[in-house]
Formats: sequence, C-alpha cells, structure tokens
Amino acid sequence: MKGKSLVVFFSHAGENYSVGNITEGNTKIVADYISEATGADQFEIVAEKSYDMPYMQLIDVAKEESRRGELPAYKGTVPDLAQYDTVFIGGPIWWGTYPQVMFTFFRDNDLNGKTIVPFTTHEGSGLGNTVEDLRKAYPKADVLNGFAIAGHDVRTGQSRVQKWLNGLGY
Ligand SMILES: Cc1cc2nc3c(=O)[nH]c(=O)nc-3n(C[C@H](O)[C@H](O)[C@H](O)COP(=O)(O)O)c2cc1C
Repeated sequence: MKGKSLVVFFSHAGENYSVGNITEGNTKIVADYISEATGADQFEIVAEKSYDMPYMQLIDVAKEESRRGELPAYKGTVPDLAQYDTVFIGGPIWWGTYPQVMFTFFRDNDLNGKTIVPFTTHEGSGLGNTVEDLRKAYPKADVLNGFAIAGHDVRTGQSRVQKWLNGLGY
C-alpha cells in the first residue's frame, strides 16, 4: 500500500455479548493494531446519541434504526480526507452490516478514488454485507475484500491482524 492511510472506525464499549463488560470495544482494539502496524491516523465515529445501555436493549434500538434506515448524527470533525490514499473502515456487525451511524459518515464523506479496506468484528456474521454496502456507497473506490475477526478473538488476535496486513504489503 502506498501513501498515507486513515482508520475510520466505530466501536461500542460497555456490555458485550461474548466478552462481558468491556472498557475498550473490540473494533477499537483492531483499529489500534492497524495503526500500530501501519502508522495510520484514526477517526473514531462517535454517535451524538448514547448507546450506553444494556446489550438486550441495544439490540432492539439498533434493529429499529436499521429497519427505518435511520442515519444518526456523529460527533467531531473529520480530518481532511484529501491527504489519504487508503482508508481502513471498521466496525462491529450490527444486524448484518455496519451500525447505521457509519452510514451517516459514508453519506457525508466522499471516498471515491481511494483504496478502501473494510474490516469487522462480529460473532458469526463475518463481513456480513459490509463490503457490498461500501461498494454501493463508493462506486469509484477500490474496495478490497476485507478482514473479519470474531470479537472474542481480538484480544489474542494481534498476530492474525498483522498477518493480514503483511498480505496487503505492510
Ligand atoms: C446491536 C448489536 C447487533 C449485533 N448484530 C450482530 C450480527 O448481526 N452478527 C454478528 O455476527 N454479530 C452481531 N453483534 C455482535 C458484535 O458484532 C460483536 O460483539 C462485535 O465484536 C462488537 O464490536 P465492538 O466491541 O467494537 O462494538 C451485534 C452486537 C450488537 C451490540
């Protein structure tokens, strides 16, 4: 991979299905592995609304958001994207694809012309529909096939992430 890269990710700390109550979300851990290995900058998508609630409640909230195609607002200022050639995009799978707030980011930020590297953490769905959804959002980007790792494996999974990155030329 050539040029400067950015990791854009969403991750939900708090009560997690398989690893208990966590202070650092699974996807954030993978995002940090990527930055450590590649020197990529980061932008964390943080929703303006709070998802700080018990897991079972969050499941329903996310399902409803996805059913309605809601696009929740996110906080913060996105860095100037013109400086990046490669953008890693990562999130948990929520109901088969990325959380809806990530689609708000996709609506607002044009990544056409760049190389996009999808990744997910999940509990069975793998990449789900994320790759297709990114290709739809950015038809003129080179969206790679992506990398998925189970959420309960990330804390012992740094070498797997590194191996995948080696395969990309890092
Ligand atoms: C609202 C919600 C919906 C989820 N839906 C799925 C799903 O459809 N498929 C799946 O494999 N995992 C699903 N999961 C599990 C998460 O993808 C998994 O725990 C992930 O590692 C969480 O990452 P995070 O800690 O970065 O937020 C869901 C979790 C939540 C909270």
